Amino acid sequence: MSIEIKKLGQAVDAEIRGVDLAKTLDDATFSQIRNTFHETGVLLFRDQHLNEEQHIAFSRRFGELEIHIAKQYLLKDYPEIVVLSNKVEDGRPLGIEDAGRFWHSDLSYLPKPSLGSLLYAHEVPPSDAGGNTPYSSMYAAYDALDDVLKKRLQNLRAVHSYEQRWQKDAQRGMTREKLDDLDRKKIPAVSHPVVRAHPVTGRLALYVNEGFTVCIEGLPENESKSLLEELFSHSAEERFTYTHKWQAGDLIMWDNACVIHSATWYDPSFTRHMHRTTIAGPGSE
Ligand code: OGA
Ligand code: MN
Repeated sequence: MSIEIKKLGQAVDAEIRGVDLAKTLDDATFSQIRNTFHETGVLLFRDQHLNEEQHIAFSRRFGELEIHIAKQYLLKDYPEIVVLSNKVEDGRPLGIEDAGRFWHSDLSYLPKPSLGSLLYAHEVPPSDAGGNTPYSSMYAAYDALDDVLKKRLQNLRAVHSYEQRWQKDAQRGMTREKLDDLDRKKIPAVSHPVVRAHPVTGRLALYVNEGFTVCIEGLPENESKSLLEELFSHSAEERFTYTHKWQAGDLIMWDNACVIHSATWYDPSFTRHMHRTTIAGPGSE
């Protein structure tokens, strides 16, 4: 099969054309896709028609899949799929309605963070009604730091926590249901290097995010806070980003080790319904 790779924007993205993900790809095509994925960090496939099994099968070729801790949002019979949706059935939301309206890297709060996520759009608002997803390259953000700051970050580690994100969201009146105590105990805070070597490519990327990073280990609170704020705003600079405007049938996969992303507001009078699979991190930290 021949595929066409088209660069979409600046640092982080490529569109792959000529591929039907519902079919099993031959090994050569698959490795071309995987290489491009790790090079760019974000891949777009348009006009896909995938059922749950096909979405899971393609995702699995990249590695084991995570089962998200927010169990109430997993798809019935397909726990590898987490539902992002504002649809309500019998008074219960079918999925997470506000999937992270802050810059984050999926599951960075796990000891072995996710390698990548594959988000498939079933139904989306019209493009002028919001719900775009910005992505930012943490390779590019790291490369652009000055040498003094690079040196300062070299041996620092940062703490990541799901719990603290939930608390911040609750304060802002967001809707995500609280994890019960048992689930919470399964995900204590963890620490990761602030500059992390990508587990597959070995390339250095900045690895802190506004969503889940709480503080920098060993620094006084105000110093940690101001350094993190500086890094958060640096990593979201427009020159590192690509913003995706969704169409139904789009599948976007992103590399959580070198890209951060954010959900954004959309007009709630439209339906937005997506399925996500999440690839577990390889190797050990
Ligand atoms: C996600 C996510 C953003 C969006 O699925 O991990 O953050 O725009 N989604 O839905
Ligand atoms: Mn996310």
